[in-house]
Formats: sequence, C-alpha cells, structure tokens
Amino acid sequence: MGQRAEFREMAISFPRGGSELPSRSSLGFAPIAALKIALVASETAPFAKTGGLADVVASLARALHRQGHEVRVFLPLYESLRSDGHDLTPVEELRDIRIDYPDRSFTCCVSKAALPNSDREDGTVLDVEFIDCPELFDRGGYYTSDPDEHLRWSTLCRGTLDVLGRSGWSADVVHCNDYHTGLIPFYLRTTHRDVEPLAETRTLLSIHNMSFQGTFGADIIDELGLTDVRGMFHQGHLAQGRVGFLETGILYASWLATVSETYATEIQEAEFGMGLEPLLKARSDQLVGIANGVDVDEWSPDRDALIPHRFSAADLTGKADCRKALLDRFGIAQEPGPGSTDPMVVGIVSRLTAQKGFELLPDILPAYLEQGRIRLVVLGSGEERYERYFQSLRDSYPGSVGVYLGFHEELAHWIEAGVDLFLMPSRFEPCGLNQMLSLRYGTVPLVRHTGGLADTVEPWDVDTSSGTGFVFHDFTADALGATIDRALEVWDDRRSWATLMQNGMARDFSWERQSASYVDLYRQMVAS
Ligand code: ADP
Ligand code: GLC
Repeated sequence: MGQRAEFREMAISFPRGGSELPSRSSLGFAPIAALKIALVASETAPFAKTGGLADVVASLARALHRQGHEVRVFLPLYESLRSDGHDLTPVEELRDIRIDYPDRSFTCCVSKAALPNSDREDGTVLDVEFIDCPELFDRGGYYTSDPDEHLRWSTLCRGTLDVLGRSGWSADVVHCNDYHTGLIPFYLRTTHRDVEPLAETRTLLSIHNMSFQGTFGADIIDELGLTDVRGMFHQGHLAQGRVGFLETGILYASWLATVSETYATEIQEAEFGMGLEPLLKARSDQLVGIANGVDVDEWSPDRDALIPHRFSAADLTGKADCRKALLDRFGIAQEPGPGSTDPMVVGIVSRLTAQKGFELLPDILPAYLEQGRIRLVVLGSGEERYERYFQSLRDSYPGSVGVYLGFHEELAHWIEAGVDLFLMPSRFEPCGLNQMLSLRYGTVPLVRHTGGLADTVEPWDVDTSSGTGFVFHDFTADALGATIDRALEVWDDRRSWATLMQNGMARDFSWERQSASYVDLYRQMVAS
C-alpha cells in the first residue's frame, strides 16, 4: 500500500511521441487501439549485441513503433555504450531511483538514445532507455561470472518496473526476453504488485535460448530481499540448493513465447527443454512460437551500405563482385585447383559454442578442401576449442580458408553477400537469423533440421525445382557430409543453383509480418 501511494505521488506525465492509433483509455475498448508495450532485454542492436537477441529486440521494437504502438525499450547502460560514443541523453525526471537490497543499495538513473532507423512517417523516433547503474553495469562485458551477477539482472528488472511506475505509464504488456528479465513477472506478482500503473499489466516472456537459464545458489533469495516470498520459487530446485531466473519467469509470466514454432514444441521435451520441460509442458496452453524476422532496412542486398557491391534478384552481377571482393580480402584463391571445377565458397558467421554444431566439421571438411571442392570463410568468436580449430584449419589450408575471430558487423554483411553456401549445422537452434539473411542475399543455406532452421529452410527438390536450401536431420558427420555432397551436385548444375537462389530471394521474412503475430498475442493477453 505504501508503495502504491508513493508511486501515485511521483507519477509524472511522460508524453511519448504521438500515437497514431487511438489509445485504449480514450476509447474504452477498441479493437484497433494502440498498445503500450515495454520491451526489456540484456541486448538491443546496435547498442549491445552478441547475437540474434539484440537484432530481434531492435527489429520488433521498430516495427511496433512504426505501426503506431507506444513502445519503450529498456537495456542496462553498459560501459561500452559510453566508450562507443553513443549519443546518450540523461532523462531528468528519472534520476535517483533507489534500489535497496538487504545488504546493498544502488542508485540508478536513466539515459536515452534514439534507436537508429526507427523514424515513423511523422518523424517520431523511438528512444531506448538505459538503466544507468555504473556499479553494476560498468564491467568488461555484458555477462559476467561475478558474485553479484544476480544483482545485476535483478536491478535491470526492478529498475525497469520502478521507471514505469514513476512515469505513470500503464504498460499493457511488459515483454521480457530471456533469463535476465525473468524476475519481472515475479516482481509484478510480489514486491511490485501494488505499483498502480502496472496493476493491469501482463507479462510475456520470450525464450530465445533454453541453454541460458540464469541459475544461482539458493542463498541469493535472501540477498535479493525475497526471503518472505521464498515459497513462490520452484521448490524442487530450491531443495537442491538452486534458483533459476528463467524458470521463475516461466512460472509467473502471463504468457510464454519462443522464437519458432518447432522450438516451441521441442522445448517441451527433455532433449531441448534442458530440465525445464515439465514447467513448459504444464504451461503449453500459454506457450506460442513466433519466428523471428529480418530487419530489411539493414539486410537488403540492393541497398546495403556495408557491402562492396549491391545486387538484387533481377541482377546478380554485384553478388559475383562481392564474392571476388570477399576472397581477395581473405587472400583466398579465385581459381579452381588442378583438375577441379569452380569451388563452392562456404561461409560461417556465428557465436562459436556447442549449440552451433561445429564439432561435426573436423571429420568431413578436410576432404573437400583437399579436393579443392570448397573454399571456407569463417567469422566468429566464442569458445577457445572452436577458435583453435578454425585457426588450425586455416593454417592447414592457406589460400582456401579465411578466418576472422571476433565480432565484425561489416564482415558479417560481406560474408552473407559474398559466399555461395551458408553453413549452420546447429545441434539446436531456437530460430536462427543467418539462414534467413542468407536467403535474402542469394546465399543458399545448409542447415540441420531443428528449431527455426526447420521452419525457415525448405529442402531443395530436384523434381519440382522447389525449395530454398539443404537440410540434414541426424546430428552426425555422415549426414552432414552427404548433404554437402548433394549441395555440390546442384552447384555443378548452375541452372538449378540459379533457381535455388531465386527461390530463396523471393521469400519474405520481414518484421512487418512477424510483428503482426506479436500484436495479436499482446491483444489476446490484454483481453484475457
Ligand atoms: P545466435 O543468437 O544464437 O547467436 P542468430 O542466428 O539468431 O544466432 O543470430 C546471430 C546474429 O549475430 C546474426 O545477426 C549474426 O550475423 C550475428 N553475429 C554472430 N557472430 C558474429 C560475429 N562474430 N560478427 C558479427 N556478427 C555476428
Ligand atoms: C538465440 C538463439 C537463436 C535466435 C536468437 C534470437 O540466441 O540461439 O536461434 O535466433 O536467440 O531469437
């Protein structure tokens, strides 16, 4: 009750760019009402990115904003944001947000910066709001193994809810992403239950990856000041001395989403649910799969400012030029080896983790490289064992393999534009963006039949000349090898290959379409 009064007093008007659709409150109930959506995440491109999560949050926010919805996006203010020179403006009304835990207190404030390419037709730009708490977020990276990691993500959650409360902004839906935001649904049921503007707020938890669960020792419950509500955490796991932010979000979010239909089914089974499948199965009526999309402003070969030559399905000359430029950049030979046909250039852009299936490569790649059938370009960073593997492959096949270890936005575009085949042999893949980017760039994806890869790549059918890529099922080097063989057969028949490229380039994965599914879901949540 005290909290409710406090927030009422502090409520300030917080005008957010003119909403093109009539607001719910002004119309009572209207099916076309603009929604108020707060998106919260640990990554948002271009401010903080290690993978697809950052792209998805930025693209969805942009699409919703352009459709006239009221959108707010919350992200921690990482040290790198200051050093990368982003144009951050402190928000005067949102200073001195005090977040108390039993043994520590933090004082946060909020800065904002415009999300690039988010202009509406009326010129309104969407601002991203950064929870500024240097004590917690000025670290070497976004994710740490520091002893206060639980406080970092808890503070993002509490900071966001406090800001919404202070600004009197009655979000229809707080859309949480991954375990970093998993405590938001919990806080809204407990500590923040009486924050008035959020009384009707629903929560959606999007799961981008079951392998990241934010699991901590059970003692953090006391450190977070949640001893009184200890009974609301997963009791079985507590008995084992652990508590997970993702599982807590799964228990308390109004609805759950994941990033492809197939993954939504997979995670209800032991192989992909990673221990949380019983919780997900129990909530299957409120669990949906909505595939990610592609940000066409950033990823369109006919207007991509980062690639050396532009091209389209109607004129692929620029793609051949991009291929040449890419091979030159890596010092890879353009000509076929002795007695060989034109090699197929294979690309990889990826986080280098066990998820991505690269352990299948050592048994099969050397043969193709020795025969001069393929060239390989790799951009990635991650676990040392994979980095070392790709380095050693480059050392063994100089002139046939190019490797860049690190994060490089421009190079990612060059590779999508310049290679013939994009390799994603993932062990599991909630959605995956690169296979869709590849299709837009006339680059044929070769993927494993899992998660979003299964939903977005249609296997090439030689009889009907239909399909967009190559798909293998068993997670074995043999199955992958057989599929590379099939790809090479089609590669040798350039007419079929051209059809395959055109089929892929004709697909529409734009966010305009995908965001409509989120809007339908938000509306369904608000109505229930
Ligand atoms: P995940 O989120 O599991 O990493 P996705 O396929 O959903 O996989 O998204 C990966 C995103 O990150 C893509 O936009 C891809 O281009 C980008 N990316 C991954 N690694 C790198 C890298 N080393 N340099 C630049 N971009 C990268
Ligand atoms: C995750 C998944 C990836 C997905 C991305 C964005 O990191 O690994 O498959 O595309 O999130 O949802």
